[in-house]
Amino acid sequence: MLTEALLYLLTPCPRWARRAGYLRESIAIGARCNRRKKDWAGHLTNSKNAVLHAAGLCGRKRRAVVLGSGHGFDLPLEALAATFGRVDLVDTVHPLGLRLRARQHRGVSLIEADVTGRDGPRPAYPADTDLIVSLNLVSQLGVAPGIDAADREIMRSRHMAETLSLGCVACVIGDIERRELRHGESEPEMVSINWLSPAGRPEPLEIREWRWPVAPFGEIASTLDVSTTVRAAIWA
Ligand SMILES: C[S@@+](CC[C@H](N)C(=O)[O-])C[C@H]1O[C@@H](n2cnc3c(N)ncnc32)[C@H](O)[C@@H]1O
Repeated sequence: MLTEALLYLLTPCPRWARRAGYLRESIAIGARCNRRKKDWAGHLTNSKNAVLHAAGLCGRKRRAVVLGSGHGFDLPLEALAATFGRVDLVDTVHPLGLRLRARQHRGVSLIEADVTGRDGPRPAYPADTDLIVSLNLVSQLGVAPGIDAADREIMRSRHMAETLSLGCVACVIGDIERRELRHGESEPEMVSINWLSPAGRPEPLEIREWRWPVAPFGEIASTLDVSTTVRAAIWA
């Protein structure tokens, strides 16, 4: 608790992101990942491998843009920084650990932006981008009080359209289904999460899926187990 309070004070963060709750959420994700290292290991490795695979499909490697870079637990930053001329990490908050990691590499920039433009400035998508990654972000969009399911769907759909409109290699990783199992119940409650491919775009070249045990019993509550199915879709 003390560590989290200190991180809240010490992490550089624009006022709009702090006000919208992104910093609090980012610190909570960092703490959960540390507690659930073993449970999350497969998910983090699968995410990194999907990004590396997409990077390998790029004919030119001038710039990689990563949306939702967060703590970068799921990001092969070192490999991207070694092979791309520039790497832009875009998030509402850049945690201290990621800042230190980014500093080790020339060509890595940290950009504070809101991909939806709802709470803060939108990111720019430079014309020399050869790889765009949406990193476990799309299914998080609009998960905030006061935003209903229809608006969330619109936010996801716009995010997909923007991400794919660049026409470069794209790798979108996000949850497609959330499962909540309560102690004593035999069937979990399932929620599907649509992130639609905009009309007129080709089908992804490749799709990978895996299970992510986000919060096993005891993490959020002793009686609740939350897991998701994650999809990585790659367009080239
Ligand atoms: C589930 S985390 C992804 C995991 C992250 N790559 C990591 O290792 O921490 C979702 C990330 O998306 C960011 N995010 C959520 N909404 C956003 C938005 N509208 N614009 C930009 N980033 C956003 C959060 O701050 C968080 O870092």
